[in-house]
Amino acid sequence: MNKRCTLLTRLSIRARSTGDEENSSSTTLDTSRYTFFFHEFSLSFQNLIARVSPGKKWLENCRAYSVPASSKVVRDERFATLDDQDIKHFSGIVGSKGLVVDKDELEVANTDWMRKFKGSAQLLLRPQSSNQVAEILKYSSSRRIAVVPQGGNTGLVGGSVPVFDEVIVNLGAMNSIISFDEVSGILICEAGCILETLDKFLADKGFMFPLDLGAKGSCQIGGNVSTNAGGLRLIRYGSLHGNILGLEVVLSDGTILDMLSSLRKDNTGYDLKQLFIGAEGTLGVVTKVAVLTPQKLPSVNVGFLACTDYTSCQKMLLEARKHLGEVLSAFEFIDSFALDMVLKHSGHRHPLPDAKEKFYLLIETTGSNQSHDKEKLDNFVETVLTQGLVVDGTIAQDNTQISNFWHIREAWFLQLPPLGKAGAVYKYDLSIPIKDLYNLVEILRERLGGLATVVAYGHLGDGNLHLNISAPDYDEKASFFFQIEPFVYEWTAAHKGSVSAEHGLGFMKAHAIHYSRSPETVELMRKMKAMLDPNGILNPYKVIA
Ligand code: FAD
Ligand code: MLT
Ligand code: ZN
Repeated sequence: MNKRCTLLTRLSIRARSTGDEENSSSTTLDTSRYTFFFHEFSLSFQNLIARVSPGKKWLENCRAYSVPASSKVVRDERFATLDDQDIKHFSGIVGSKGLVVDKDELEVANTDWMRKFKGSAQLLLRPQSSNQVAEILKYSSSRRIAVVPQGGNTGLVGGSVPVFDEVIVNLGAMNSIISFDEVSGILICEAGCILETLDKFLADKGFMFPLDLGAKGSCQIGGNVSTNAGGLRLIRYGSLHGNILGLEVVLSDGTILDMLSSLRKDNTGYDLKQLFIGAEGTLGVVTKVAVLTPQKLPSVNVGFLACTDYTSCQKMLLEARKHLGEVLSAFEFIDSFALDMVLKHSGHRHPLPDAKEKFYLLIETTGSNQSHDKEKLDNFVETVLTQGLVVDGTIAQDNTQISNFWHIREAWFLQLPPLGKAGAVYKYDLSIPIKDLYNLVEILRERLGGLATVVAYGHLGDGNLHLNISAPDYDEKASFFFQIEPFVYEWTAAHKGSVSAEHGLGFMKAHAIHYSRSPETVELMRKMKAMLDPNGILNPYKVIA
């Protein structure tokens, strides 16, 4: 009893003192968004990215880090090489403002966010309507010109950039909100709308987007749909397979498929839109989206809690479900290896300065009644403290602290690679049964010894591990690499996990599909691809290459 009281007092003292510290430093920590422009591309990321990577500097970094994606595969010679006639034809479709041949702009569009994959497209098209997309694809099919659909280019598996000289079709100019129905909460918009823009639009109307992720300032809803992005609140709002009610998709032959239903219930035959959710641009180009959006609830509470071992983290999830039930909106974890790097390099302060634990949980509740929700979280914390599942913790006292806790959870990836502080990052996004999830991290740490740094964080509530291995170089011939692959995939398969929880397969993991899908399933996927895209022009070398 005494121990419990001491810990509870400590917890509230922690909360107050962290609040004071953060408030006093709010000018550095709370300047949460910076925007930089590169020609007509507008990319906005939380925190410092813009400060370290503006314009030309970013380009230099691209050149320094990227390896040609084409080093692993051979160009399919059935694809045509662009000629002047093609460029003239495309120009006739999209006009001069939709056709980009400028070298610097192409360099940006050819290089992925990780600066790991790089293509050599000579042409970037920015269509302004579904009809233009249809014309582009119809012509490309007839000439067998390969095409890469591109959204915000924030994808993490090399799916959004060409492997060779595929034409990039970026949806960014198709960014209109078509309609919003306040009674049903259904939003219809074009695929190029930026996720954050949609969320702000909805917030003004008392609603929110059911998906949230660190790249929201740049990623597009069409890209989110095409990757079936999971994000930070899937535990509460479910996946896009449930929230997307309708799509308009352009097929490779230029057919515009109108599946833009805004009905919650529609059992008329096969639900074909589901095929395109998570297809990573290999089956069609998403041009319009209908999404069911929930009410934005006013009461948000966030706790940052320390656990000594992974077993306690698992028990915490059980307790969180039991005690927080309908208000639980995020259950995220970050291990001490990731947190230490964040604290060393990013300027963030430890929310629990005395804690030396191995695991940290960010638990968020969202509801409609602040005092009720806060009481629930307090009771939950009291219970887990009493049970000894948590040894230290703090509950955010204001919005600044809430956003600081979130920044810390997201900072490893959002800040360190752009600051050049994480070296070459080998990134694995795995679904693993929760009981086994952290074993893989420890095994890899042992396998790698001092050759590379292994850090882990992710959406623990969804059984989704983000395993990041920070190595000196992208070098698949180096001895450290053989300690990682194919072991990571084999171990995941042996534990009935998935080699892609939420980022997709793209180019990086196309070869790994069989670790998570049976041969019969992959064969059916191939047949479906061949039927919908007989010339194979849509995002070749990706997903089921
Ligand atoms: P792009 O990167 O441009 O493209 C991704 C794929 O979709 C490509 O294969 C591309 O060909 C295809 N595509 C894009 N637009 C279309 C279209 N209109 N029609 C057909 N195909 C298309 N992902 C998560 O799931 N959860 C996270 O929490 C998360 N956090 C992230 C945090 C950061 C800092 C970063 C950089 C990325 C994160 N991601 C996350 C990955 C990425 O943001 C998502 O995959 C996002 O959904 C990609 O959207 P995009 O518009 O950038 O698509
Ligand atoms: C996240 O959850 O932070 C994202 O998926 C990005 C990452 O894997 O780092
Ligand atoms: Zn994630």
